[in-house]
Amino acid sequence: MQRPSLGSNRVLSPLVQSTYESSVLNFYLNGTKITLTSVDPEATLLDFIRSQRKLKGTKLGCGEGGCGACTVVVQDVRTGGRIEHLAINACLAPILSVEGKHVITIEALGTSANPHPLQERIAKLHGSQCGFCTPGIVMSLYALLRNAYDPLTRRYVLSEEMVELEGALDGNLCRCTGYKPILGAAKSFVREDLGRVVFEGEKRETRVEGEGELNGNYISGVNGSGTGSCGRPGGCCRDPPAADFPRDESSSDETESSGETSATETDRSPFPALLMALLPRLVGAMIVADCRPAGVKPLPMSFNFKSYEPHTEIIFPPALRKYTKRPIFYGNENKVWFRPTTIEQLVDLKHAYPSAKIVAGSSEVQIELKFKREKYPVSVYIGDIEDLKGFSINEAKGEVVIGGNISLTVLEKACLEGYNKLGKRALVLEAIRKQLRYFGGRQIRNTATPAGNIVTASPISDLNPVFIASGAVLTARSKARGEFTLPLKEFFLAYRTTALPVDAIITKLTIPLPAEGAREVIKSYKQAKRKDDDIAIVTAGFRVVLDESGVTTDISLAYGGMAQKTVEAKNTMEALLGKKWFDNTTLEGAMGAMEKDFSLGFTVPGGMPTYRKTLAFSFLFRFWHEVAAELELGTQEQQVDREVVDEIHRGLSYGSRDNDNPYEQRVVGKQIPHLSGLKQATGEAEYIDDMPNIEGQLFGGLVLSKKAYAKLVKVDFTPALQVPGVVGYVDVNDLGDERNHWGPILKDDFFFAEDFVYSHGQPIGMVYAESAAIAQAAAHLVDVQYEELPPILTISEAISAKSFLPYGRMLIKGNPTAEAFKDCDFVFEGVSRMGGQEHFYLETNTAAVIPRPEDGEMEVWSSTQSVMETQELVAQVTGVPSSRIVAKVKRMGGAFGGKEIRAAQLTCILAVAAKKVGRPVRCMLNRDEDMMVSGQRNPFQAHWRVGVSRDGMLQVLDADVYNNAGYSYDASGAVMDRAITHIDACYLTPHVHLRGHVCKTNTHSNTAFRGFGAPQGQYIAECIMTAVADNLKMSVDELRWKNLYKEGELTPFLQPLEDWHVPLIITQLKAESDYDNRVQQVEEFNRTHKWKKRGISLIPTKFGLSFATALHLNQAGALVHIYHDGSVLLAHGGTEMGQGLYTKMCQIAAQELCCPLDSIFTSETSSNTVANTPPTAASSSSDLNGMAIQHACQQLNARLEPYRLKYGADAPLKTLAHAAYFDRVNLTANGFYKMPTIGYKWGNYVDPLPMYSYFTQGAAISEVELDVLTGAHTVLRTDIKMDVGRSINPAIDYGQIEGAFVQGQGLFTIEESLWQKNGELFTRGPGTYKIPGFADIPQVFNAGLLKGVKWANLRTIQSSKGIGEPPLFLGATVLFALREAVKAARETFAVDAQGMGVVQLDSPATAEKLRVAIGDWIVRWAKVEAKEGEKGFFVEAMA
Ligand SMILES: Cc1cc2nc3c(=O)[nH]c(=O)nc-3n(C[C@H](O)[C@H](O)[C@H](O)COP(=O)(O)OP(=O)(O)OC[C@H]3O[C@@H](n4cnc5c(N)ncnc54)[C@H](O)[C@@H]3O)c2cc1C
Ligand code: FES
Ligand code: FES
Repeated sequence: MQRPSLGSNRVLSPLVQSTYESSVLNFYLNGTKITLTSVDPEATLLDFIRSQRKLKGTKLGCGEGGCGACTVVVQDVRTGGRIEHLAINACLAPILSVEGKHVITIEALGTSANPHPLQERIAKLHGSQCGFCTPGIVMSLYALLRNAYDPLTRRYVLSEEMVELEGALDGNLCRCTGYKPILGAAKSFVREDLGRVVFEGEKRETRVEGEGELNGNYISGVNGSGTGSCGRPGGCCRDPPAADFPRDESSSDETESSGETSATETDRSPFPALLMALLPRLVGAMIVADCRPAGVKPLPMSFNFKSYEPHTEIIFPPALRKYTKRPIFYGNENKVWFRPTTIEQLVDLKHAYPSAKIVAGSSEVQIELKFKREKYPVSVYIGDIEDLKGFSINEAKGEVVIGGNISLTVLEKACLEGYNKLGKRALVLEAIRKQLRYFGGRQIRNTATPAGNIVTASPISDLNPVFIASGAVLTARSKARGEFTLPLKEFFLAYRTTALPVDAIITKLTIPLPAEGAREVIKSYKQAKRKDDDIAIVTAGFRVVLDESGVTTDISLAYGGMAQKTVEAKNTMEALLGKKWFDNTTLEGAMGAMEKDFSLGFTVPGGMPTYRKTLAFSFLFRFWHEVAAELELGTQEQQVDREVVDEIHRGLSYGSRDNDNPYEQRVVGKQIPHLSGLKQATGEAEYIDDMPNIEGQLFGGLVLSKKAYAKLVKVDFTPALQVPGVVGYVDVNDLGDERNHWGPILKDDFFFAEDFVYSHGQPIGMVYAESAAIAQAAAHLVDVQYEELPPILTISEAISAKSFLPYGRMLIKGNPTAEAFKDCDFVFEGVSRMGGQEHFYLETNTAAVIPRPEDGEMEVWSSTQSVMETQELVAQVTGVPSSRIVAKVKRMGGAFGGKEIRAAQLTCILAVAAKKVGRPVRCMLNRDEDMMVSGQRNPFQAHWRVGVSRDGMLQVLDADVYNNAGYSYDASGAVMDRAITHIDACYLTPHVHLRGHVCKTNTHSNTAFRGFGAPQGQYIAECIMTAVADNLKMSVDELRWKNLYKEGELTPFLQPLEDWHVPLIITQLKAESDYDNRVQQVEEFNRTHKWKKRGISLIPTKFGLSFATALHLNQAGALVHIYHDGSVLLAHGGTEMGQGLYTKMCQIAAQELCCPLDSIFTSETSSNTVANTPPTAASSSSDLNGMAIQHACQQLNARLEPYRLKYGADAPLKTLAHAAYFDRVNLTANGFYKMPTIGYKWGNYVDPLPMYSYFTQGAAISEVELDVLTGAHTVLRTDIKMDVGRSINPAIDYGQIEGAFVQGQGLFTIEESLWQKNGELFTRGPGTYKIPGFADIPQVFNAGLLKGVKWANLRTIQSSKGIGEPPLFLGATVLFALREAVKAARETFAVDAQGMGVVQLDSPATAEKLRVAIGDWIVRWAKVEAKEGEKGFFVEAMA
């Protein structure tokens, strides 16, 4: 390596000469030694891995440590000689951090031909849909597995609890599956595979589930086993002899485990009989090749899983055992890296160069580099300085000493062990451990450090409040000052400013322990939007010392999230000091004093003033009780309320799928795993960004508007063009006006901004360069000057400003006049609001455009749901006919509607550049860019009036329904169509008048999202139902049941309901889930609990299938080639985004052609195989493409008929194809289908044709528990039943049901998009926008399909129904169950007397909204009212 010159830096140069001899990086990657003599100092480990030709399995999902897609495992030798396996975020790790270590990526585990058992289980047990998250999840599990091996006992110490409850997966997100099958697969591996593990030299044995070591404790993270084993499971020369450990008696020779049900789930169930009936019968991995004669029942088939052979695991490279750490220095003229190996070297460096940036876990520094665009020309990696990583407890001295840069995971384990050893004297360790358990995800905790947290000085740091409360003291060092101490209490000076001198480093933290028997209690608390892996809203560490009479002698109440820095509530502390602790008057005094500590204004930065104040006091209230409980202060008169102390608890999740499928045929109806599942789990599946380098390729970096609404005064690309590696740029000047305009319905959008920008994040231009990093950096240098205009952000602002886009549609049924209202016994009115939703597909928008040398041809790879739109728009911007453009999609890493329309923008911008420069141009948007540019689900607001009879029959509904379109029309009108045609939900209202309004605002342009307006419409309906029920003081279940549609009744768009099964579904679901009893149990629970409340909610759904009035989209084509060898290439218009469409379509073709499933292959979706395809959307793609495939296969079957007669009905396709080929029979067929019967025309109020082909129907029941003090909740149980007709593949349908439900659950509870007042999107990454994680799914999660009914009017492929979108709305059962819990809490606290009216819960029902809606005495105390003209810190677009 060329050693970088430090130029004129006279201070650093001598230091480098004397200490830093090496500039070469050495590490191992998947067992191969890597020596880097030249490395980009700006690059992360992920950049390096993905730059390797065959290592594309590690994905980039966010670049900020929040999604886990980039997870790799780093093997290193722990103190004591044991090998540790750390799951880390490669997107945050500097390459230097793996020097001397072994990096394992997904590729090292297995291949699709020979997968690792974890990969195989996840793929075959349906744990991978789009697959973009899958490698990261496998790697997190892999680290858990490898760490679970104890070379001392040669056993695995791993239990299902450790998989699910100890945070192993909390740093991984999946947007598709709803997590249940992933957890199921992982836990089945632990149960079935680890229980059968066989080691070299050992007798083969089968372990009985639940016995012995499988339920053991975590391995010590601090001391290690000390054996010096390389950690190779089952065989290392340093391991003790195998005879040292006991054998299981129940041995067997069986090494192959099967996926047949084990008894575990049922045994743990509180509903054993029901679950026994519903437990999975896993069938159908291997498809029998031949055609079975009619009437012969297919044999049930079970999965065969490879057994786990630990000795085949990749080992720790022996050469690394001899590795000695040495100082390293490398870099280039822009940036240099140092790796000192001792504290002295570090101190010298800081002395020589005080502004050198210290990097430990890099979890903060990398965020600063990437998102705050900080520049650190001198960076110092300190993760390999062992002396900074100590942990010790000195009981005699009464102190705990924590090394500044110990990893949080190791600290977490050390705290646990310390607390277990010392008991109550070490309560502080338990308080730290509790904070650490919910600190970031496991990958963050594996690398991040306490000193990093302290020095960052974030006002919402989780550790700083406990450290302050504990009286911790920092030890720092600098060359000038030597070693010195800094009490944490005095360390934080202002916002992100500390007392640490610039040339100093932190070495350790000392926490005093109380004397044995002291009456001291210390506790910690945190409330975030999501329990796992989320930054706190308010976080706290409290310590109190009482004397023998229960009087407070010392106290510290430290808070995060209440000020610009971590602070103590000084007034409150003073109010408590010297007072008898467990006394109501003391508490009242504290409440009064806290008002002075935290007098947050309505506009306080970070928002949520009422909630934050409520939490501040609620935590103290909890602590007050907890102290009393710990010190046994309760008396007869004043008892400790345990319920206040207990936080929401989550147990192991489990659930069933009703796998009995009476409609199963030879191929169709079988639970075939996703055909790409294994490739996805092994990292082989190729997404666009994984495509190999294309000769001459360039990369695009978008220039995005930084203003929400402004006139563009100047756009100067000159500074960007001067950056080495930048090749050019494109903007509106490269397109005429007409070619620059686009949009699926109205052409009111712009590829590039013209004279104005209408939204923050709107593309203005694009810089293209030799690398993505250069392009992105240069794009930020483009000089854009704006003349700002006042933006409109919310629906209410748009209504006031009359800012609407053309729409004007309405629905009228019956006679919805003023007279009709007069005839009603009651009329109620209200406003319902529902926020939008970010798609958060794990793969952001990506495209690669390759210009061909002749005739303006282009090959376009785009992560899009709309091949035809992409082709047409690229043709438009490049000025050629569509026939010259080939648009292709192999697979997407999730889409959910977000890539239906808006994906075209990036692709077209790249096409403009590719045409201009004559070279391929590609781009994958960063997560924040994607969230800014690509729009969301439309937020909604409805102003409704409903008339009902005394006995609760709906009579008249009149509503104005508004959605927030953002700055352009996109599909917002069509979304409104679906919303107002689903606002009836499942209930008959005789007289209806609904008017839709599409609001134009200055947010990004909102777009399609799974459900496409139907969830919003049905949410409004259920708001109306709950409001009516509450006003009538009637059970909402009774109200719903009374008003349910009956067969043949007319919707507001006059379509009769046929094959109406909702009443039956409700009846069955109630019986199967013991609903009536559980309603009573919930009531009983609420009667006997004050601080925890439960709610249960049963809601039905119906969802209309078709592209509605976009009649032209209800068509599909397919192209089927049978090759001479009997293999079949299937092409159709549908794209694969994880929903399993390719799998289902292959099943249909295999069924139709009477051939094995593995004879059918779909390579990609391409505009040159099937033309004029509609987008893969509206849950109609199986219906449309399946029919087109059937049509093609029928033609081929007719041509093969003579050969079937000749060679027999079950003759292999190879025989038939061979014979037909030699007879010159055409073995290619083109199929086509258009959906019949539909044809609704707006405005026809007399005899319209149907809007929808049929309705997919279903219902769900959710039961929740709410923590009244904090607003936190858990979903205890969900049961779903769906009518999907005769399922083509129940496993895929269940995947859609569970995945959609969890996505809906996120929509209605935690997913909250926020804007700043200037129109800048605030929530633009996983750090600020929370989708559900593993720990959010219902703890009991059952799903079933309706069977045994007739679908007399269903004319679809194999009589199946579309399922992608319909279950999403059922996530609202969680919101409405929470609403019941809030109602119960209000009853307990007699809130009605406050005149708050019926509960109004806008969606999403976040912890904040839930807590504030309770309206108890704490909320009333905390209430912060807006002063005249004041607006909150954040803006919600549905407001
Ligand atoms: C996805 C994600 C989730 C997160 N979740 C949480 C959370 O739940 N709670 C929370 O509180 N924080 C959270 N954070 C913030 C961050 O992870 C923590 O602050 C973490 O403790 C930083 O430690 P680090 O070792 O990675 O610091 P680094 O990023 O390496 O450094 C952070 C700062 O500390 C300085 N520094 C580090 N060590 C020393 C030292 N010995 N002496 C002097 N200066 C030093 C660095 O120079 C730098 O300024 C999260 C961050 C991410 C990316
Ligand atoms: S890409 Fe690294 S965590 Fe998301
Ligand atoms: S399968 Fe997990 S994100 Fe798609």
